[in-house]
Amino acid sequence: MPTELILPLDVPTREAARPLLKQLSGTVPWMKVGLQMFTAFGTDWVREVADHGYKVFLDLKLHDIPNTVAKTVESLAPLPINMLTIHTSGGHSMVSAACAAQRETRPDLLLLGVTVLTSINAEELHGVGCPESPAIQVARLARMGNNAGLLGFVCSPLEVGALRDELPGKVQLVTPGVRPIGADHGDQARVMTPADAARAGSTHIVVGRPITQAPDPLAAAQAIIAELATA
Ligand code: C5P
Repeated sequence: MPTELILPLDVPTREAARPLLKQLSGTVPWMKVGLQMFTAFGTDWVREVADHGYKVFLDLKLHDIPNTVAKTVESLAPLPINMLTIHTSGGHSMVSAACAAQRETRPDLLLLGVTVLTSINAEELHGVGCPESPAIQVARLARMGNNAGLLGFVCSPLEVGALRDELPGKVQLVTPGVRPIGADHGDQARVMTPADAARAGSTHIVVGRPITQAPDPLAAAQAIIAELATA
């Protein structure tokens, strides 16, 4: 199965998002709706995105006590979403309760675990009481999350190789921090090209600004998809 492209809808308004939804429909298979748009426009917006024919990745990074996260997964289950994120750092009980709720209500929904946010460096990790390096903590949380039932994770493309060694082959790995050759890196410090991320083992890549800020977003998306097909 070729690695699939996910576009994050990191825009403040529906008016800014709608032309992209129209233009990329039929080419880009996935749209990621994050906290910004979900908080402002809610479940109706998720339905509108799905109505354009996209698979929807709802990136809410849930993190609370097990019962609350499980009930939230149940509340989200009727929505036309295909991926949903939770924080693995919520612990084994929380992850396992979320997975049980997902299996019960939406067996086809892929729950993804976020390990260590890429904005957190070693110093910040120490500040929240974890003496390990981010790489060790990512591997530990991914192992724990998989033992608790998660079959997918979000990670940096630079972590994909290590996680592939840790986790069963069927696990899906979704990676932001991907930039085509020649594209502006923006605030992404450590990046890989789409083809390299695919070869390293990413099943899905998240690429935003190189598409949304391109003079021709459709052509930019098509070029990335063509590159993925060669990997
Ligand atoms: O525009 P760009 O391609 O950098 O967008 C990447 C998307 O992936 C953004 O929505 C960003 O918040 C998200 N993301 C990330 N790095 C992570 C997790 C999520 O860039 N580690």
